[in-house]
Amino acid sequence: MKIGIIGTGMIGSILAKKLSAAGHEVKITNTRSMPELTQIAAGLNAEAATLEEVVQGVEAIIFSIPFNAYQNLPKNLLQNVSQDVTVMDTSNYYPARDGEISGLQGKTESEYISETLGRPIIKVFNNIFAYTLENRGKAAGEEGRIAISIAGDNEQQKEVAAELVDVLGFDTVDGGTLAESWRQEPGTPGYCTELNAEQLKQALAEAQRGKGPVARDFVMDKLQNFQIDPMPPHDEIIALNRSASAVN
Ligand SMILES: NC(=O)c1ccc[n+]([C@@H]2O[C@H](COP(=O)([O-])OP(=O)(O)OC[C@H]3O[C@@H](n4cnc5c(N)ncnc54)[C@H](OP(=O)(O)O)[C@@H]3O)[C@@H](O)[C@H]2O)c1
Repeated sequence: MKIGIIGTGMIGSILAKKLSAAGHEVKITNTRSMPELTQIAAGLNAEAATLEEVVQGVEAIIFSIPFNAYQNLPKNLLQNVSQDVTVMDTSNYYPARDGEISGLQGKTESEYISETLGRPIIKVFNNIFAYTLENRGKAAGEEGRIAISIAGDNEQQKEVAAELVDVLGFDTVDGGTLAESWRQEPGTPGYCTELNAEQLKQALAEAQRGKGPVARDFVMDKLQNFQIDPMPPHDEIIALNRSASAVN
């Protein structure tokens, strides 16, 4: 598949490297100068492209940029992109990082992104940590394979996203429509808690609207209290996410 990726940070770079290693044709972009981007692209076995180029001539596009960066993207960026192209988004809203976002209130994060981009999106790769994505993939059918959920309003495009998730070593669970995608937002029981498919299905069903942001902010406060670099070990953060979001 021809894939364009916007953002080559923690998540975007892993996606680019792994999808290209799996045989996909990957183009990437970020905010750097073309010489620097070309160097980054070479390291990921991808092609460097401008923002305008990265969304053209591809079958799938993955946005993986900070939540507060979408509002500054060119308004007509996807104007000439066919509706057949699957547009995926990995983003999460963290108020402490992203600030107040006008137009977000009363919507799921993905409904806001969809409106901002001016077209439907598929929410995927938002509820898996970069570390998990990079290191904890397993072959299909292998014991303990971690699952992530996919939300969106287009079943066919959710299938496209699911194929990519599978190639990367993870199971998928249907996260419902974009309106229901709050169930996989930060602080929910299925957010970065490394569950298998059965457990994740249950976690999505048990999520309670309004509780996610409370658990999200609790976890962020806890992590800030460490005030040290490096962060606690990965498995401790997973355990913290699990306990903070647990439904009582
Ligand atoms: N890190 C995780 O574990 C994780 C897990 C799941 C979901 N997410 C979500 O996924 C998104 C990306 O996360 P991340 O950790 O990969 O972020 P990151 O490491 O901060 O990387 C962000 C990337 O976006 C690029 N970018 C920013 N504005 C841009 C623009 N206008 N045009 C093109 N590129 C732009 C940056 O470019 P430069 O490199 O040029 O600065 C950078 O490559 C976030 O919304 C995050 O919440 C993160």
